[in-house]
Amino acid sequence: MTLPARSTPGITRAAVDAPILLALSCEAVPSTPVWLMRQAGRYLPEYQAVRRLAGGFLAMATSPEMAAEVTLQPVRRFGVDAAVLFSDILLPLAAMGMDLVVEEGVGPRLLNPVRNPGDIQRLAVIDPEDRLAYVGTTLRAVRAELAPERVLFGFAGAPFTMAAYAVEGSNPGSAATLRRLMYREPAHFDRLMAKLTKVVSDHLVFQARSGADALVLFDTWAGQLSLEDYTRYVRPWTERVLTATAGLAPRLLFIRDGIHLLEDMVGLKPEGIALDWRIPIGPAFDKYCGHIALQGNLDPATLLASPEEVYQRTSDLLSEVGGRPGHILSLGHGVLKETDPASVAAFVAAARDFRASEEPVKDQASLER
Ligand code: CP3
Repeated sequence: MTLPARSTPGITRAAVDAPILLALSCEAVPSTPVWLMRQAGRYLPEYQAVRRLAGGFLAMATSPEMAAEVTLQPVRRFGVDAAVLFSDILLPLAAMGMDLVVEEGVGPRLLNPVRNPGDIQRLAVIDPEDRLAYVGTTLRAVRAELAPERVLFGFAGAPFTMAAYAVEGSNPGSAATLRRLMYREPAHFDRLMAKLTKVVSDHLVFQARSGADALVLFDTWAGQLSLEDYTRYVRPWTERVLTATAGLAPRLLFIRDGIHLLEDMVGLKPEGIALDWRIPIGPAFDKYCGHIALQGNLDPATLLASPEEVYQRTSDLLSEVGGRPGHILSLGHGVLKETDPASVAAFVAAARDFRASEEPVKDQASLER
């Protein structure tokens, strides 16, 4: 089958046998591919330098030149198997008419949260090709620089997580305002979710057509919900996004703290699941190996340990998976800003040194790379 996204004229693509693409289709790879969620960020001095130059996060993310530069930084420094678009899940909300600020040390905030039917009505269903054009430019620039064996990830927030930020305004916590809307005003909730689903789907399609080889759908806050509420109120919208993007690029689905939703996530049939670090990875492989790719899932806080300890813990995780097909080594959530880059290097080195058939050998030279 010729995949439409892969045949877009003028756009470079990862090789079909890029290790992450092989792993996403549960095919055998010579060694486990590795990348990290939030691999571009404040723990890197070269990121800090660009951020200072830009004067802020949003200026950096909306400048294709700067965004492409910080996207490529971790690939250059660590030789990871993927780059991930430097952007944020909240930028589409800004394009839809919300006032987004990202304050140093505080995090993102939407100054005009969606609180009533009029607010939902005012949200614009934008065309990403027009209002998020800088994302396409960044992806094309990164893809042109990236070696064919490396994969470029695009991403978006899933509708529920987008709604949580849109309604709560900042860190959603228990998403109480959104959940009140969900239970008490289901028609308004549905209108909000329908708009977000359309924009998220179009944004992902746009990214796949602009050079993203694979996509991550982050439903960071859906783990707050019981299985019953997830199935009833959220899953159908996520399913629509997956339907809209089917066949364009392999998709990874992530839910933080979502162990109780794992079976449902698998049932949605994305090509892969990005496992939260609290999900035991060995049993997940026992159950799903061969059916779906599994990414993860070292606890991001483990990278606060010494490089030697990180190397050992990562080797232990790889031994637990035992080289079974369909594994992408990563963290169970994003890199913390307090992380020492040397620990990220040790994490990557452990993947490079690991051989499934034997116990991993601690190789001092690779720790110093
Ligand atoms: O390297 C990468 O992974 C690429 C870029 C990326 C960012 N945000 C950059 C960013 C990605 C993939 C995201 C996704 C994102 N953003 C999610 C889903 C994944 C997850 O982490 O659960 C969510 C929930 C957000 C919302 C968001 N944006 C938060 C909670 C924060 C604050 C984070 C923090 O550590 O302070 C942001 C801002 C943000 N997005 C930063 C970065 C590098 C920090 C901005 C800065 O430089 O000050």
